Amino acid sequence: MSDLDLVVQEVTEDFHGMIGRSTVMVALYEQVRRIARAGGAVLICGESGVGKELVTQALHAESDRCGGPLIPVNCAGIPSELLESELFGHASGAFTGAQHARRGLFVEAHGGTLLLDEIAELAPEMQAKLLRVLQDGQVRPLGANLERRVDVRVAAATNRDLEREVARGRLREDLFFRLATFKVRVPPLRERGEDVRRLALHFIRRFSAEIGREPLDLSDAALSLLSGYPFPGNVRELANLIERAVTFCCGGRIVPSDLPETLHACGAGIPVSGVRARPPRAASMPTLRQVQLRYVRYVLDQLDGNKRRAAEVLGIGRRTLYRYLGE
Ligand SMILES: Nc1ncnc2c1ncn2[C@@H]1O[C@H](COP(=O)(O)OP(=O)(O)OP(=O)(O)O)[C@@H](O)[C@H]1O
Ligand SMILES: [Mg+2]
Repeated sequence: MSDLDLVVQEVTEDFHGMIGRSTVMVALYEQVRRIARAGGAVLICGESGVGKELVTQALHAESDRCGGPLIPVNCAGIPSELLESELFGHASGAFTGAQHARRGLFVEAHGGTLLLDEIAELAPEMQAKLLRVLQDGQVRPLGANLERRVDVRVAAATNRDLEREVARGRLREDLFFRLATFKVRVPPLRERGEDVRRLALHFIRRFSAEIGREPLDLSDAALSLLSGYPFPGNVRELANLIERAVTFCCGGRIVPSDLPETLHACGAGIPVSGVRARPPRAASMPTLRQVQLRYVRYVLDQLDGNKRRAAEVLGIGRRTLYRYLGE
């Protein structure tokens, strides 16, 4: 049995489909276990791609509602008028086109968990309606005159700083407190670098199996590149990058050239143990400033141009960021 087979054997799911044994993740699992038993609304915060949806699944699975439904709804993707009937349902004939009555997701999630994803995007009138349902534990479908009691645990997820949204007047404070009986922060991948290897091997195994390939090996040099990279797109970015590497890799193991440019820019010039760098060809090498700028632009791009978050990820102040960009 090869080293990789042994590692693969060892890489089983660590917590309801989540991979990671870093101290921060183990603490997170414990927190989720406790909250799951307690009941009460849960707010799950964290950057995009950190695994908030997986955390919600784990929360549901650990709770005594695990036999009930887990229903996710994306608050950002649906216009307010539709979202209202989506969540609370409607009576038949409640509005044009409403031929049949609809139960709504709150009722469908009865006895289980409802995940309100991207909660910060909820329009003010929907915030008020949601607050009422959370306070009363009753929903009244649009156009109906009877209320229905529902037993639903609400989990809300966001990649925004909700306290800040409250301070800016974009989110009702009373709703915030209702949603955040418990608060779980899912750490960005750069705060759990020790998990990168396990995650990478997990994705290699998964994507190799998907295309019917033997699981590829991961070279030390490639791992070292991955480890030196801060992953602004978090676990999702790592998964995508491994999927590409597995798809295009020609040999039996993933080597640095299977990984995107950006990672090379990040780890540029850092020798990997046992690997001798190629003789330098000064003329073809980018300057540190060029590499910096390229990387800064890349991070910005990954974060949809959000400079505040980019500065956070890069570990620099916003002014320094502007300086890099020549603004
Ligand atoms: N710890 C983990 N172990 C295994 N896979 C993970 C882990 N964390 C995240 N993933 C995978 O990474 C991807 C992104 O995770 P998820 O959708 O839960 O992120 P998110 O925080 O909800 O992101 P967004 O804010 O963009 O909705 C998914 O494919 C998920 O399966
Ligand atoms: Mg999500």
